[in-house]
Amino acid sequence: MHNNSRVGVWLISLTCNCKRDRVINTLRLVFYLLLPWLSSIGRAVDDIASSGKTKRLEFVVFPSCGRGSKPQLAESGQQLMSFSRSYPITFEWLTRLKLNSLAFGDSDVPSLINACHRLEHLSFRFCSLVKYSVLKIDAPCSRLQTLEFIGFRQCARIELISVPDLRRLECHSCLKENPPVRFGYVPQLHDIWVRPEHPGQCTPIFSNLRDVYFYNIFVECDLNWTLFILEAAPSLQKFHLSRHSCVNGSEDIDEKTNVVWEPSENLKYLNLKLLVMNGFSEEDKVMDYVRLVMERAVGLKRIELSNKHMCVKCNSLEYPRKFLVDEATKHRVSEQLTHGLSSAVKIIIG
Ligand SMILES: *[C@@H]1O[C@H](CO)[C@@H](O)[C@H](O)[C@H]1NC(C)=O
Ligand SMILES: *[C@@H]1O[C@H](CO)[C@@H](O)[C@H](O)[C@H]1NC(C)=O
Repeated sequence: MHNNSRVGVWLISLTCNCKRDRVINTLRLVFYLLLPWLSSIGRAVDDIASSGKTKRLEFVVFPSCGRGSKPQLAESGQQLMSFSRSYPITFEWLTRLKLNSLAFGDSDVPSLINACHRLEHLSFRFCSLVKYSVLKIDAPCSRLQTLEFIGFRQCARIELISVPDLRRLECHSCLKENPPVRFGYVPQLHDIWVRPEHPGQCTPIFSNLRDVYFYNIFVECDLNWTLFILEAAPSLQKFHLSRHSCVNGSEDIDEKTNVVWEPSENLKYLNLKLLVMNGFSEEDKVMDYVRLVMERAVGLKRIELSNKHMCVKCNSLEYPRKFLVDEATKHRVSEQLTHGLSSAVKIIIG
């Protein structure tokens, strides 16, 4: 489909379990918001959905004007909203919704989420709010598991007041800064895209965070930057790091940038109890890092170090390399880590 195409092309993809029960597993429609076509789509999908003929229903929606002017995008946003009000059954059955280049009023996104009871995945690509404002999502009954904001503009802040099933949140932007996100009741959340920022800016977001995992930090890179999370999340109790450079991965795509970030001077991490590092090695930069955490985390109880890592791509290659098993090495590492420190921490190596 081309942006300048004005014909109401719509693509349907079906995965069908025809032999057994004649139910469509996934009905996926990709369409432009073109008025005469919307009612045909609405009526057809209402029929299919209300007769229980599809298990999953997905829409990928584009504005009729391509990447139009602000008023055009706002108009397209309103067309989507009125489409959702005209065909409530269809929207009630939606499991996945991808919106491209639409602009929404303040209450539109919350109403859309409330209209889509079964929605699990909601994605905004190059969408915006009509007026610069805060986007609040308070959806205690929703089943939303994934929220994506890619290039979301005109937004002062995203507030996730209550999204109980949300597991994954992705915010990124090609040109401008991401809107900051405030986390309310999101107990299932475990994937967030972050980058180290000044702790003062992050603390309001991470103030209740108890448990953090950082995966696949390139072994070539420095580790100091990871301390930003310990500074930004004062309630943090468990901190898990996994160092790994995949030997069978996207070597040419991932740039091994060494993030430069200086930890604040003399700051103590008051609540940290546990540090776990997979992909540990006896290099100076790693040993210094662990000692730095031990010095600063005054309540640290336990450190677990192992050279294992979690990578499905090259598990078979790296897993057997157990260099820390012998007692002499364990003893040496423990001695070096605790040397000169009055820490009562228990160090587990293996
Ligand atoms: C990490 O930070 C500590 C404390 O500021 C500093 O002493 C150390 O040199 C830093 N490490 C690296 C590799 O920059
Ligand atoms: C490397 O990745 C490719 C593609 O994912 C896979 O087919 C291959 O078995 C992997 N090789 C190793 C040694 O893990």
